[in-house]
Amino acid sequence: MSAQRTSYHGQWSSRWIFIMAATGSAVGLGNIWKFPYMAGENGGGAFVLVYLACIAIIGLPVMIGEILIGRRGRQSPINTMRALVADGAHWDGWRFVGWLGVLAGFIILSFYSVVAGWALSYVGEAASGAFVGVESATITALFNDLKGDPWRLLLWHTLFMALTIGVVARGVQSGLEQAVRYLMPALFLLLVVLTGYAMQSSGFDEGLAFLLRPDFGALSANGILAAMGQAFFTLSLGMGAIMVYGSYLPADASIPRTAATIAVMDTTVALLAGIAIFPLVFTHGLSPSSGPGLIFETLPLAFGAMPGGVFFGTLFFLLLVFAAWTSAISLIEPMVAYLVENRDWGRIPAAVASGGAAWVVGLGSVVSLNVASGFDIFFGLTWFGFADYLTTNIMLPLGGLLIAIFAGWVMPRSAVIEEVGLTGLLFRVWYGLVRYVTPVGVGIVFLHAIGLIGG
Ligand code: PHE
Ligand code: NA
Repeated sequence: MSAQRTSYHGQWSSRWIFIMAATGSAVGLGNIWKFPYMAGENGGGAFVLVYLACIAIIGLPVMIGEILIGRRGRQSPINTMRALVADGAHWDGWRFVGWLGVLAGFIILSFYSVVAGWALSYVGEAASGAFVGVESATITALFNDLKGDPWRLLLWHTLFMALTIGVVARGVQSGLEQAVRYLMPALFLLLVVLTGYAMQSSGFDEGLAFLLRPDFGALSANGILAAMGQAFFTLSLGMGAIMVYGSYLPADASIPRTAATIAVMDTTVALLAGIAIFPLVFTHGLSPSSGPGLIFETLPLAFGAMPGGVFFGTLFFLLLVFAAWTSAISLIEPMVAYLVENRDWGRIPAAVASGGAAWVVGLGSVVSLNVASGFDIFFGLTWFGFADYLTTNIMLPLGGLLIAIFAGWVMPRSAVIEEVGLTGLLFRVWYGLVRYVTPVGVGIVFLHAIGLIGG
């Protein structure tokens, strides 16, 4: 029955290592690549405000729930959801949540790796001095050349996926946490440097106002859905990544404190990235809504003009690749954990098969940036756009909603209290958020976006 289990993939040696790994999962392309361009496409301030609200009242409570379920079950998400149901609930269908997550992680990885490939290729561009002293038109052309060349994209996508498979194949405690400890703070410092550079550019006030002054007229129902989806995406929620990491968390670590630390760090990185980028957008007369290429068309301008820019630029893109790498690992860990537990696979074949399959699906994203860019998969979206929309806006919020219902309504209250370690008012607030606010909130945003309610 309820007793606390131990994981058979091993355990993190401390709460800090879990925080490092979970922060490694959370902080990635979502913060630096996706958040700025999504904010730009959805009108800025109002999007940011809704995003922050979603982090606070949905993301953080769901994260606590997801870690808690993981630590209680101590297995891959699919098996955990099954095991906890046997503990007290009555419906085997909950393992569907685990499957949904495995599928979402797999699809996300397929395009994530392609974008991480852009960052890899920019390491070389920065190091060779390609940004030094050039105009914004040259920088835009540089990005378009990369996007237009399927073979170069393929090369970098392949390299990034191989890096990911390499680490996953070697298991949880492979020394990666050590690297996170130094490289994450380094990335953070570089963002501070970039923000400092942005502060003395002529477009700073306009950039900051764009990012922080809410104009609700600019935010559509789909923009609200995108802000909510981005909250799940950036915190790695709703697909089992955090659940799997939670399953390796020592029993005495405080889950709420851990989750809050991760959410604050992730949000800080995203906001810093936005503050560094939008002033550049306005200084150089670019469009905030230029889409997924935004950081690749703006940050090189800063590196090209600042002292030490070759060094800082090279380091920045290297650290960005690193941040993407630690996220990518967590994207296939649920699938790998499942193959190892249920199908008796070794970690190496499991990692190669999962990563290899995501690589194949990623080919669709590679060609949708060039030769197949006119190919409409779904309501005007290319494969790349569709894979992103489906996972970020639908699968992750749906997974998060089900996780909230599971922690709030399905697990026995006593087991929840034992794991979460909150008492009194704090417990009631958190429990109320996962039981009512998350399901109702996600439900309303879904219905609003498909046009069933509101305007
Ligand atoms: N949170 C990661 C990022 O912001 C992406 C991610 C999503 C990782 C879902 C794992 C699971 O880049
Ligand atoms: Na993130």
